Parts: sequence; C-alpha cells; structure tokens
Amino acid sequence: MLETIVNQIQTTRDITKEQLNIVLSASEEEVSCLYQAAREVSQKVYGNRIYIRGLIEFSNYCKNNCYYCGIRLDNPKVCRFRLSQEEILSCCKKGYALGFRTFVLQSGEDGYYSDDRMVSIIQEIRKNYPDCAITLSIGERSKEAYERFYQAGANRYLLRHEAANKAHYQSLHPEGMSWENRMECLKHLKDIGYQVGCGFMVGSPKQTVDTLYEDLQFIRKLHPHMVGIGPFMPQKDTPFGQEAAGSLSRTLRLLSILRLLIPELLLPATTALGSLDPKGRSLGILSGANVVMPNLSPEDVRDKYALYDNKKSIAAEAAEGLEELRQEVQALGYCVVEDRGDSLVE
Ligand code: 5AD
Repeated sequence: MLETIVNQIQTTRDITKEQLNIVLSASEEEVSCLYQAAREVSQKVYGNRIYIRGLIEFSNYCKNNCYYCGIRLDNPKVCRFRLSQEEILSCCKKGYALGFRTFVLQSGEDGYYSDDRMVSIIQEIRKNYPDCAITLSIGERSKEAYERFYQAGANRYLLRHEAANKAHYQSLHPEGMSWENRMECLKHLKDIGYQVGCGFMVGSPKQTVDTLYEDLQFIRKLHPHMVGIGPFMPQKDTPFGQEAAGSLSRTLRLLSILRLLIPELLLPATTALGSLDPKGRSLGILSGANVVMPNLSPEDVRDKYALYDNKKSIAAEAAEGLEELRQEVQALGYCVVEDRGDSLVE
C-alpha cells in the first residue's frame, strides 16, 4: 500500500493531500520504503557525496519578534553580539583551511549591517575566496539590496518561507510581519539569479496536514534549489516556550517526500534535527538529505545564537568536529566532500 504511494509520488513528482495523510500516519515499519526510495534518488543524483557548508552566525541582533525564535527582539535574556568584517573573514580563513568551499552568512535582521556594509563584506570574501560559494541568510531586504549583494559576489540565499498558508504564517509572527513580503522576497531572489532556499519548521504550533500540504505545493511551484526543514524546538523565553517540539519521524518523512518531489534538491540535515536527537543528522542523511552545515562561528559567540533550547554547536556540529562528522558520514556509506556543491536543480 505505502509502496504504491511512494511510487506514485516518485513518478508524478507530486503528492495529494490524501497521500500525505497516509504517509504521515503510517507506522515506522511501513514507512521504511519511503526512506529507502528517497535515499536511492539522492544517490542517483548526488552519489554518496555529502556537501558541507561553513555556517557563520555573525549577529544575533534582530528587529523581528517571531513567536518561536530565541533571538527575537523582545527577549531581554539574549546576550547580543556582532562580528566585525575582520572577524567574519577570519572565520572564512579557518573554514577554508578545513575544506569548506561554501560560507553561509547568517544573522538576525540587524540594521547595523546596512546594504553598504554587507556589500563590503561580500566583496572582501569574494576577492579572497574566488572558488567558494557565498550564501546569505539575513532575512528580508529590498530587491535593490538583493541585486547589489548578487553583484558583489553572493551566489545563494536562504530565506525560509516558514509557512505557505497565510493564516498559519500570521499565527507564527506578530502583526507587521508580512507573508506577502516574504513571498515577494523569494520571487525577487529567484528572478535575480540566486540559488534559492526556502523552508519551514516541522511541528510548529498550528501546523496541520493541510498546511503541510500547502507547504509542499508551494515548494513544488517555487522550485527552489534548496529546502531547509527541521523540527520546531521550543525556546523557553519565547511565547512558544511551552509548546511541544516537532517530531523526528515526521521531519524525516518530509525530508524524504521533498527528495522525491524534487530529486536534485540540496537538502540539509539541519542543526535542529541534530539537536532534537543524537542520531537526527545521520537519520536525516538516510532519509535523503545531502548537506550538513557545521558551525564556523567563533566559539565564544556560538551559545549566544540560541534560536532554541539545547541547540547543538559542539562536537560534530562544529567545524572542529569535522573529523567526527567525516567518520559519522562514512559509517553510513557516504563521504564528506570538499566542493562548492552547487545545486543541480535547473
Ligand atoms: N526551532 C526550530 N527552528 C527555528 N528557527 C527559528 N527558531 C526556531 C525554533 N525555535 C528556524 C526558522 C528560521 C531559521 C533560521 O531557524 O525557520 O528561518
């Protein structure tokens, strides 16, 4: 029964709401054919190669108040930090020596990093590391800003859509944050020519099979190069601090479905997945994920970038733990590669 559905998802590269319902409510035993199919598709497109990205969390200041996020404006408990251009560049230097060929610059929406400042940072990284990909994950900006960053040498942009259903989006964000603007930003990024990543949290409050179905259909339509999904993880000083975390199994099932819907996707086994369960990242890879993003930020700021409680940034989750990561990946029959790892999505 489930095998037939998995086959249908794979051949049509589409999923119905009914199929999604069945897959999400199937037993763990039944669903193993889904993981296997996703793994095979991933192997066919990307071989046994796992791409690594050096994640540089350069500022935890944020003007937004997302109900789920630990670094939201109204969380007074956060110890705020910013990295200077020089500090960011030294992260890149360390990362390059370790074998990273993609740098992901991520921050809260921090006005201190004006468009001019960002352009300068991007140009400097581009000049020093012509063979590396530069990925930005700094939230919503104007189309002009996105164009300037692209001209300066940025190649990729991660902006999770968070929720394709507008009412669901609004239940996760305060008034003043606009679902329309988020959609508009994603469109601009794609039009400009970035390799674009969208994504959402699995198990966020008010998420249903219906809203997940809309997320999947939105992703099919946007046809991004990357999709980042991870379980929702409560952070105690946020309005959602008492909510339950997202489920490991549901996250894995959705990773596999995404792999079948768009075979060439770059799909990270996210930090949230690794933080939810010690085996999370490995299981993510075995469910069709092909990217891992270890932390390259200076050690003394890592715990300050706490989007949620118990966020992992030590051992194999951190850049110094690369050897441990290599071994973990090898034990699964995969291989960490030193490569830009560009998306094969057309
Ligand atoms: N749990 C899991 N993921 C989170 N993010 C933010 N807060 C949380 C949380 N509490 C995700 C959001 C954001 C990305 C950078 O991290 O989806 O886009």
